[in-house]
Amino acid sequence: MRKLGWTTAITSGILIGLAACSPQPMDNPMQWQTLNGEAPLVIAHRGASGLRPEHTLEGYALAVAQGADVIEPDLVMTSDGFLIVRHDRYLSTSTNISDLPEFAGRRRVSDGRDDWWAEDLTLDEIQTLRARQPFNGRSLEFDDQFSIPTFEDVLDLAAAHGVRTEPEVKSPGVLTASGLDPMPELIRILRERGLDHAEAPTAIQCFEPDFLARLNEHIDTPLLMLVFSMQELDPEVDFMTPTVSLHDLATFADGVGPDKALLIDSDGHDTGFVSRAHALGLSVHPWTFRDDQPVADGANIEDELQRIYRLGVDGVFTDFPETAIRVRDEMQAE
Ligand code: G3P
Ligand code: CA
Repeated sequence: MRKLGWTTAITSGILIGLAACSPQPMDNPMQWQTLNGEAPLVIAHRGASGLRPEHTLEGYALAVAQGADVIEPDLVMTSDGFLIVRHDRYLSTSTNISDLPEFAGRRRVSDGRDDWWAEDLTLDEIQTLRARQPFNGRSLEFDDQFSIPTFEDVLDLAAAHGVRTEPEVKSPGVLTASGLDPMPELIRILRERGLDHAEAPTAIQCFEPDFLARLNEHIDTPLLMLVFSMQELDPEVDFMTPTVSLHDLATFADGVGPDKALLIDSDGHDTGFVSRAHALGLSVHPWTFRDDQPVADGANIEDELQRIYRLGVDGVFTDFPETAIRVRDEMQAE
């Protein structure tokens, strides 16, 4: 169902009901507090990126083999207009480009960073690179072996295995300002594959509300607004990002992807975020759960996942999907 335009809904003060997100009867013993009463989705964040270089077909395939429900490609653009999967527009940390002499003269400064940039290279050039593990402390065993896939490569893999995708469009404002608006190519791909409707096994994520509000005018694919900052959870102001409130984003998005710190405070207590989002019909997919990065209050990953599942989140982004699946399935079996 097409949602009202963001501005229109704000102006008219209409609270939108989202049929696609309406709760369904709970019919399993766990009584999950998710919007549809089903077990939360495990979303392989950048693939099984704790164990393989991120955003590679090999990393996504491992996540699928582990039982992930969803794989997450982050999307950036090449100079010739292709959507490829990288977490960052710059390439030095997740590829071997710094070792390749043919690219030595292609560095430049952007956003205060001296690096190689995906939007400066053609797809053919990107495909000569190999992926590297960018996180300290993780295995480098698979570095310099796997190529950089296109978005369509990832959709092919997902379709072949029957898993969902949650693609994130990275920095659309910057890309559009440089003449590379990712939206037409994104819409073309989704339409061509029949992924432009409300029941499509995909949800498009973005940190930029303007982009999602604009996208909502063109396709009915579920949209997930990412948020990473909120000074206080103020029930009066309902303020979540510098540009959009929880209430307002419900007029153009179907779900919200918050930093997990917005759901549980530093003492380990529920902030009320999930219930507030659910009351607006928004699904909640927090990020990012990492076996190798303990949370501030000292909870181990199993405890952290259990308490986040108990809040009723509808999905979790994790670099280690196998762990999130195990913890979820243990709770289901209890
Ligand atoms: O898209 C969810 C999460 O991935 C957002 O953070 O920086 O890891 O893309 P990031
Ligand atoms: Ca992401």
